[in-house]
Amino acid sequence: MRIVSGIQPTGNLHLGNYLGAIRNWVRMQDEAAAQGGECLYFLADLHALSQPHDPKALASNTREMAAALLACGIDPEKSVLFNQAQVPAHAELQWLLNGTARVGWLNRMTQWKDKAGKNREGQSVALFTYPVLQAADVLLYQATHVPVGEDQKQHLELARDIAQKFNNDYCAPDAPLFTLPEPIIPREAARIMSLRDGTAKMSKSDPSDMSRINLTDDAETILQKVRKAKTDPEPLPADKADLEGRPEAANLVGIYAAVAGTSPEAVLGEFAGHGFGAFKPALGELLVEKLAPINARFLELRQDPAGLDAILRSGAEKARALGTPTLHGAYAALGLLRG
Ligand code: TRP
Repeated sequence: MRIVSGIQPTGNLHLGNYLGAIRNWVRMQDEAAAQGGECLYFLADLHALSQPHDPKALASNTREMAAALLACGIDPEKSVLFNQAQVPAHAELQWLLNGTARVGWLNRMTQWKDKAGKNREGQSVALFTYPVLQAADVLLYQATHVPVGEDQKQHLELARDIAQKFNNDYCAPDAPLFTLPEPIIPREAARIMSLRDGTAKMSKSDPSDMSRINLTDDAETILQKVRKAKTDPEPLPADKADLEGRPEAANLVGIYAAVAGTSPEAVLGEFAGHGFGAFKPALGELLVEKLAPINARFLELRQDPAGLDAILRSGAEKARALGTPTLHGAYAALGLLRG
C-alpha cells in the first residue's frame, strides 16, 4: 500500500482546508503506518505555474502550507513530506508521459474546461497539461491509493489511462512499469460553508474575515466568529431532513460533527430542541479545544522558515530515492539512452 497525494500551496489556511484534505491525510498516515504502508505527501508547487502567480507569494505559501500540514499532524518521521520542485523526476516523467497522453483526453478534462472558460487560446500550456504532471506525481512512486476530493477523480482516471497505455505500448505484458492508482474519495467529505452564508463555500478569498475560521485565529476570535455566525431563529430539529432549507443551521451542525468526529445525526440527537443560544457556545468551545494546539504549533513553525526548509529538503531526498527506479524504467522502456 503506497499512498501519494498532493496539495496546491495556498496561503490563509482555514477550517475548510483542515477538515477537507489535511485531516484525511493525517488519518491515512496513521492507518498506513499500522499496516506497514507508506505515505508520500507533497506541495504541488509546480502545478502552481499553471496560472498567473507571484513568485514571492508562491515561496511563502509553500512554507505556510508545509507548516499547516505539520501542525495538523503530518509527521515527517512517518510520512515523506516534500515539495515537487525539489524532485526533478516529477517534471522529467511528465515529459516522458507527454508522448503517451492524448490531446483528446486532456480536452475532456472538466477542470480545464472550467478554468479556461471561453479563453482557451490565452491559457498557459501548463494549465492544459496539468493532469499529465498529476499523473507523473503518482505514477513515479507506484502509488496504489490516492486520496483526493471528488473534483480530482477525473484526473486520477486519466492517470490510470496514461499508465495503461504506456504499459501496453512499451512494456512486456508480464512486466508492466506502472501501477494503476486507485482514488480514495472520502465518503462524506465535510463541505464547510461560509459562516455568513450557508450556500457559499468557506473560502480564503471571501472579503469578510468573519466568514471563515483561520488556522491563525486565536481562541477569542474563534468564539466571536461562532457567536456572530449567521443562523435562523428556529431550534435544532431531531431529524436531519428538517435541516433542508436551513443552510446556515446545516453548516454549523456539519462543522460540529466533522470536528467532533461524529455524524450530523448524532449532533442533532444531542442538541434537538435547543436554539443557537445553546448550540453556538458548545460549538465555539469544541472548535477552540481542537484548534488551539494546531494554531499554537502552526504559529511556531511559521516563524522558523529554515526549520521548514530542512524538513522539506530531507523529505525531497527520500522522495528522489523512491522515484528513481521508476523514472529509470521509463527512460529505458522508451529507448532513451542514458550512458
Ligand atoms: N490537482 C490536485 C488538486 O488541485 C493537487 C494535486 C497535484 C494532486 N498533484 C496531485 C492530488 C497528485 C493528488 C495526486 O487538488
